[in-house]
Amino acid sequence: MTTGTKSSLFYLGGGHKPVLDQARGIYMWDQDGRRYLDGSSGAMVCNIGHGNENVLAAMQRQMKRFTFGYRTQFETEASEALATRLAGLCPDGHEKVFFVSGGSEAVESAMKLARQYAVTIGESNRWKVISRAPSYHGCTLGALAVTSYDPLTAPFVPMMQAMPKVPAPRAYLDGLDPNDPATGQFYADQLDAVIRSEGPGTVLAFLLEPIGGASTGALVPPQGYMQAVQDICQAHGVLLIMDEVMTGAARTGRFLGGDHWNMKPDIIAMSKGLGAGYVPLGAVIAHERVVEPVIKSGGFNHGFTYAGNPLASAAGLAVLDEIERLDLAGNAARMGLHLTNILTGLMDRHQIIGDVRGLGLLQAFEFMSDRQTKAPLPARMRAFDRFLQIAYGLGLIVYSRRTRQGLEGDHIIIAPPLIITKPQLDEIEVMLDEALCIFSKEIGA
Ligand SMILES: Cc1ncc(COP(=O)(O)O)c(C=O)c1O
Repeated sequence: MTTGTKSSLFYLGGGHKPVLDQARGIYMWDQDGRRYLDGSSGAMVCNIGHGNENVLAAMQRQMKRFTFGYRTQFETEASEALATRLAGLCPDGHEKVFFVSGGSEAVESAMKLARQYAVTIGESNRWKVISRAPSYHGCTLGALAVTSYDPLTAPFVPMMQAMPKVPAPRAYLDGLDPNDPATGQFYADQLDAVIRSEGPGTVLAFLLEPIGGASTGALVPPQGYMQAVQDICQAHGVLLIMDEVMTGAARTGRFLGGDHWNMKPDIIAMSKGLGAGYVPLGAVIAHERVVEPVIKSGGFNHGFTYAGNPLASAAGLAVLDEIERLDLAGNAARMGLHLTNILTGLMDRHQIIGDVRGLGLLQAFEFMSDRQTKAPLPARMRAFDRFLQIAYGLGLIVYSRRTRQGLEGDHIIIAPPLIITKPQLDEIEVMLDEALCIFSKEIGA
């Protein structure tokens, strides 16, 4: 059964989709009984898979007691326990947690916390948040101002505060060797140059996704980049904010994406895999040195009604339990290696794949019409959309966007739930192979 022709909902793209009936593990079924393999965890959300009984039981236990207690009126065990647990999983000193309900809220909150910290310590000239182009940090006006993805930002430019950008370190497109530390330094130097040209005393923070998400398609930074940007931020008194909304909660094989480089940011934004599709949940985890002055000055002038919601917190805590109990970071790392082999094997067989990249279970391939020149497929082909439809028709859900400012350079993200097994990844391979054959034939490649 599908919904009728008239719907009161309006989302991007419109058009009717199959009606979801059930979801278990890595699979989902529509009301016509068709099965889909969730090869993208929705939008890189369902890290522990669908229908996890332990999470559902924890939610039920909380629901039977109470589902809401407003944070200025009550403390709750659930939000307290989740905050302590989360802080324990983050780098040393990240003792303070502020809950929100999604990724955009987490990024907004992280930037506002940084700003209030600067004002509190007498550095109120600092307000600029430097981010990368391309990048995606959320859809609210503050988070959008630090996003660089033309189709999403263009209509809203007059309504936003312009923020400085530095190029994302896309070594593969710039013809640089990602394994050469000089490449990392080359991109980090551009951050240093922008901080200097903006006036170091005016720059509040540098915000980045440790491994790129939707806008760059699982971009892994080149050697030396992460350490160099951290050093540059420290040298200029610029706060480092890591957007771990997509990369957090074990997605890339470590609890945080930044853990691959032992990063020590000032503020971390998380969401997606933290609620894992069970509840809307996000968090800002900040170093004590940032939060203490703000608390002493009277507290953070910020907050959402649903922040610290006990039901969301109980679910989040159970999600973290499952990530640990099932060693999902370890599984993401192990299965990630297998996925890399699969994708590079597909690249050997399919000329239209020009690049394969990613870490753990956040990986992508990018279509190109010429591997040598890195020329994208013609934009009018809308490969990102068409390939998605073909895969969907075969029962495989993938996630796609465009790498070059959202305008061209189609990439397909493969990011299944972290519980996935090797035979299930092989199932993805078969469907991807078939989808690639169909698509190549269609475009005459
Ligand atoms: C890195 C990153 N930051 C922020 C966001 C915004 O999160 P949300 O859609 O939950 O507001 C996203 C969403 O895709 C994201 O990938």
